[in-house]
Amino acid sequence: MKVTLEKATDLIKKGHTVAIPTETVYGLAADAFNVNAVKKIFEQKGRPSENPLIVHISDFDQLDLLASEIPETVKKLADQFWPGPLSIVLKKKDSVPDIVTGGLDTVAIRMPDHPLTLSLIKKTVPLTAPSANKSGRPSPTNIRHIEEDFGPELPVLDGDSSKIGLESTVVDLSGEKITVLRPGFVDARMIEDVLCQKVWVADQSDESTQKKSPGTRFTHYKPRADVQWLVEPILKITDSNHYYLFHRQRQQSSQKNVHSYDEDYPSLARDLYDHFRTADHLSCSTIFIEPFESEISHPIIPALKDRIEKAISS
Ligand code: TXA
Ligand code: MG
Repeated sequence: MKVTLEKATDLIKKGHTVAIPTETVYGLAADAFNVNAVKKIFEQKGRPSENPLIVHISDFDQLDLLASEIPETVKKLADQFWPGPLSIVLKKKDSVPDIVTGGLDTVAIRMPDHPLTLSLIKKTVPLTAPSANKSGRPSPTNIRHIEEDFGPELPVLDGDSSKIGLESTVVDLSGEKITVLRPGFVDARMIEDVLCQKVWVADQSDESTQKKSPGTRFTHYKPRADVQWLVEPILKITDSNHYYLFHRQRQQSSQKNVHSYDEDYPSLARDLYDHFRTADHLSCSTIFIEPFESEISHPIIPALKDRIEKAISS
């Protein structure tokens, strides 16, 4: 159910949850310091309690409320990327409730790039928000997706479709090595360029990554249809039960369930989860996606591959 900014403000102050727009995906938000409100997020999503949440701020100074150590590198990254799709993991203050961080001694923080959500945070407090989908489902990029998962009653601050469409990059600045824990629109190279130092990219299957970033352990981004890389070059698309996403080959997009992106990778990223959900509406059995050969390079490709591989393997 669409609500106004005033209504959303009132609901957050009273300890309720509200779905909020961001440039990446919609979040299911609550007051980050209100334990009972944060509990509702986990209940509504059906989210495992060990999976920590990101806290969203509207002002750099709010970092002081959340982080016990703010290294110089944070300021540099914030100057370059905030508001924007980069979540930064820092040592947390004791005042950040354990339920937000899944018991970790760190907290992930970002400043989202959406005027409505920035206004809501300014009128209330830092908001903690995971993606506003039922646990394991594809993240929502518009109000329709949220209503699909939660029904019409959940209050939603409607801010149109998310521009980026994939969740933020998560970078860990709490340890010795600066490490990207989840790839996103901001890639490791861009971070290296700003910091002038080596940035590591965590291997998602590695056990120590799973400890540091519990989100990597859980089922994610999964439509009901089977997702597969398209291995055979196909000449004729005949099975109406199948759904195709091409990023390069110019297939006839006029054909039903066939979408080609002509190397426009950001647009494919923006639409990916909507395609997942559309394929389900059409009761398609399988979504075939053209693989990304290693010679193709674009900063969004590691994030696209990550989300698609998770949808395939789960
Ligand atoms: O773009 C986004 O990040 C969206 C919007 C709503 O901001 N949010 C989002 O939240 O994707 P969620 O909960 O679906 O994913 C949060 C990710 C998980 O992979 C989690 O493990 C990681 O961030 N994370 C959160 N806190 C962390 C921490 N303290 N240390 C390491 N990873 C953390
Ligand atoms: Mg999520």
